[in-house]
Amino acid sequence: MISRTVVWGSFNICVLVVILLRFSTPAMAADGENVFKGVCGGCHGKGGEARDISPVKFAGKQWERFFNKKRHNRKKDISELLSEQDQTALIEYLIEHAADSDKPIAAGLR
Ligand code: HEC
Repeated sequence: MISRTVVWGSFNICVLVVILLRFSTPAMAADGENVFKGVCGGCHGKGGEARDISPVKFAGKQWERFFNKKRHNRKKDISELLSEQDQTALIEYLIEHAADSDKPIAAGLR
């Protein structure tokens, strides 16, 4: 009886680990998308003050430069709105779907 419980228990842990592994990568990839829609969409989305943007606006290297050189702050200082982690995830997302990527996303925020 006891050994059956132990076997069942470790089986459950295995299933849990498999589930966590399966879902951890897409969840992390979705992060940058959430930042893009949530933070950038605040101004570049529906009813926002700025024009529509999408990841294909720039090539990957250009997005990288845009953030590393804090180019946005010339138009509007948004440094308070982005944590370092948010920014890293966002750049990853934008590069993954940039104009020169394999999976370009042209859909904008509005
Ligand atoms: C607080 C409002 C605000 C937020 C948040 C914001 N922007 Fe902007 N953004 C602006 C304004 C204002 C401009 C200049 C006017 C325009 O381009 O419509 C601008 C311009 C831009 C431009 C054009 C720059 C150029 O030189 O052509 C890009 C690209 C851009 N933003 C990307 C982003 C991204 C990516 C995010 C998310 C991290 C973001 N913005 C968040 C307000 C904002």
